[in-house]
Amino acid sequence: MFAPVLLLLVTLCAQGANGEETLETKRHGHVSVVIVGGTGDLARKYLWQGFFQLYANQVSSGHSFSFYGGGLTPADKANLVFFEILKAVSCAKDVSEQRCAVLKEQFLRLAQYRQLKTDEDYKDLTKHIEQKLQQEGLEEAGRLFYLSVPAFAYADIAEKVNSSCRPSSGVWLRVVLEKPFGHDLVSAQVLASQLGTSLKDDEMYRIDHYLGKQVVSKILPFRKENEKFLDPIWNKHHIERVEIVLKETLDAKGRIPFYDQYGVIRDVLQNHLTEVMTLLTMRPPKNLSSSEEALQNKLKIFAHLLPLGKHQAVVGQYQNYNKEVRNELNKTQDYLSSTPTFAAVLAHVDTAQYDGVPILLLSGKMLDERVGYARVLFKNEVFCVQSHHSVHCKPRQIIFHFGHGSLQYPAILVSKNLFKPVQTDPQWKEVTEHKDVSVLDLPLSDYYVHAPKVQKEAYAELIAHIFAGRKNNFISSENLLASWVLWTPLLDSLAVTFPRIYPGGAVNGNLLDLRVKGKGLSYSNEGVVIIKNDNRGGLSADGYQVMQGKYRSADMVSAWAEELVEKLAADIQDAAEAAVREGGVFHLAVSGGSTPVALFHKLVLDHFSFPWRDTHVWMVDERCVPLTESDSNFRSVHDHLLHHVKIPYYNIHPMPVQLHQRLCVEEDGGADLYEKELRSLVNGSSFHFVLLGVGYDGHTASLFPGGQAASQGESLVVLTESPAKPHQRMSLSLSAINRAHKVAILVMGKGKHALVTQMSRVKDDPNKYPVTAVRPKNGSLVWYLDYEALLG
Ligand SMILES: *[C@@H]1O[C@H](CO)[C@@H](O)[C@H](O)[C@H]1NC(C)=O
Ligand SMILES: *[C@@H]1O[C@H](CO)[C@@H](O)[C@H](O)[C@H]1NC(C)=O
Ligand SMILES: *[C@@H]1O[C@H](CO)[C@@H](O)[C@H](O)[C@H]1NC(C)=O
Ligand SMILES: *[C@@H]1O[C@H](CO)[C@@H](O)[C@H](O)[C@H]1NC(C)=O
Ligand SMILES: *[C@@H]1O[C@H](CO)[C@@H](O)[C@H](O)[C@H]1NC(C)=O
Repeated sequence: MFAPVLLLLVTLCAQGANGEETLETKRHGHVSVVIVGGTGDLARKYLWQGFFQLYANQVSSGHSFSFYGGGLTPADKANLVFFEILKAVSCAKDVSEQRCAVLKEQFLRLAQYRQLKTDEDYKDLTKHIEQKLQQEGLEEAGRLFYLSVPAFAYADIAEKVNSSCRPSSGVWLRVVLEKPFGHDLVSAQVLASQLGTSLKDDEMYRIDHYLGKQVVSKILPFRKENEKFLDPIWNKHHIERVEIVLKETLDAKGRIPFYDQYGVIRDVLQNHLTEVMTLLTMRPPKNLSSSEEALQNKLKIFAHLLPLGKHQAVVGQYQNYNKEVRNELNKTQDYLSSTPTFAAVLAHVDTAQYDGVPILLLSGKMLDERVGYARVLFKNEVFCVQSHHSVHCKPRQIIFHFGHGSLQYPAILVSKNLFKPVQTDPQWKEVTEHKDVSVLDLPLSDYYVHAPKVQKEAYAELIAHIFAGRKNNFISSENLLASWVLWTPLLDSLAVTFPRIYPGGAVNGNLLDLRVKGKGLSYSNEGVVIIKNDNRGGLSADGYQVMQGKYRSADMVSAWAEELVEKLAADIQDAAEAAVREGGVFHLAVSGGSTPVALFHKLVLDHFSFPWRDTHVWMVDERCVPLTESDSNFRSVHDHLLHHVKIPYYNIHPMPVQLHQRLCVEEDGGADLYEKELRSLVNGSSFHFVLLGVGYDGHTASLFPGGQAASQGESLVVLTESPAKPHQRMSLSLSAINRAHKVAILVMGKGKHALVTQMSRVKDDPNKYPVTAVRPKNGSLVWYLDYEALLG
């Protein structure tokens, strides 16, 4: 039954050039393409077209192919639909009608539908492939599985592919996956590790179709080609702002069961827009084809992105969304979804190059126009007194225009008052005949415009990359997890935020306009539609509550984690301002570890007026490790706080745990040294504010149970030893802590509930539970307990 196909292939090759190509067929080998979900929406719209294009481009290259559409439906029921889809593929413009007909006919003959449900089905597929190879005397080059199925099916299919369809060695296996790759960091990790048991990392191709867009994949080459112009201006001194925008006019109707679980941030910002952001900010690799170097440079950007909190984001939802949700999910009339369909987020890359440059990521459904672009807006210091219309007075910007909008085609636009870009790519051209349109405040004639000669569909581009084994334009595991590390905390904190409702389309007017202020982002006007929601307490506007009370006969503040941290940050700032007013200086002693990290982020992101210049930061305790190690307390305080605020170096006081290249050796006198420093700089050795945590065993600072915390006398700084892990620590003593003006003990998380309960009952006992001996002599003590720790 395959004979006619072979015959045609030979005929075609012979047409192409000379007889040698038939030999090539053997040498280059046979490729089997399997689309699992081969009759689904994506396959219908893009994938078969993409693979047909691959086939048309490769048929004369010496490869032979077979194509399989797989699905859960039995073949006799699916065949008709399958071939209808395949018949709809079309040829490129430069292919003659006659040749196109031949190519399509071949493609149809090389394709078949197979039910792929059970292990047996996958084994049969392999048997079929092997028989075909044998019968036709073909050598095998590779097997490509494209999983166009819901993400929950990935792990199972990957396992079947590994156990039943893995080719013999020397033959490649490539498995293509589509987003969503998880729902948050944890689920992404779980999925990555499940896939990892069946597939090697280099066998996986995670698609972000944005990376296949011609302008997106041109960002790095453009930056490199034009580096002599860009290097001097691609930094905080010249860039005013970066905007990465994907606006849609459509709604989510028909996709609600998927969409309502994801929302716009997971659907667009976490992947497409984040990728574009990294391409714009990362250092372009020296070798553009080196995917390893590109990945490393990209990961460096992820490592320097400031954390995203609620104050860096706004969310919205189009008015009809809830009606659609009720319809499609069969919900009752009072059901409210808080899934955002619009979001804008302000990101910052905290490096010397980009420090302070706002990067706005924005996407939404039911907006006024369909357009996708990234705009780098430069500062323009020129003030034009009379000649407002001359080009040097106008905005200076580079637009990476992905598509649609007023321009309608993909292009890179550089405003003429910047520079004339270099253009070396033979696939691109300069466009000089301009329609009478404006793109982002400038008429098209004010730009140098470069566009691809031929517009190509993203999927076709990516399929060609997969076939060639080029991994640059795909999402590696590390890249994926780094992105979820960035987005997950924001998604968590937005879970109890109700989106602003907008009517949709042009009538949105200025309802969604934004204000960038400091490092924060908000809606610029207050025309909020308040939805009163009695069913889900967590969502209501009056859910904000801070409870005050007593704990262990000291003051207690309790709230949900987010509000608690906000309250503590505000209290620290109040103490700082009071101290600076009174004595010109604020002495703060902080703990390391994970509990205060959220507090540090809050101080960095929302407390711009904090008097850092007059603040001295001291350590409550330190592990006996070099300060550069990741478990050093100072390192954590540095990375999450000190690094991000403008505090003078001489105000920072790490504990001297490493002297003479030794760690915490008694004779080196590190503790005495710190005590001396403290006594000489801090009035009465009384810190203005000491921030403590509590360990599961009741330890605080590095004062452990049974460690004679009570018998340290008047020493302010001591070396101690943890009984659980016999490692030495340096710590403030109880006597130093109890001299402070204010002491805060921060306890958060369900895991601490048992401890909080136990501590509420026990008597003060410094040797058994050192934390109970924290009783400032002349100062105040406040316990900050989040609801989870307090109520379990
Ligand atoms: C694939 O399956 C084999 C057993 O059939 C197993 O040994 C191997 O670890 C699996 N994973 C990979 C990545 O090969
Ligand atoms: C660039 O990287 C590619 C892929 O790793 C490699 O094949 C090529 O030799 C490299 N080119 C240079 C000039 O190093
Ligand atoms: C909603 O109800 C209709 C009719 O009762 C049913 O066909 C459909 O599957 C249901 N959808 C969901 C998501 O439960
Ligand atoms: C030091 O503290 C004492 C007692 O709190 C206070 O009276 C004095 O003014 C302080 N000195 C300075 C320099 O702030
Ligand atoms: C408490 O204040 C008194 C007087 O105000 C002072 O004499 C004493 O040293 C202070 N105690 C501590 C531990 O700071």
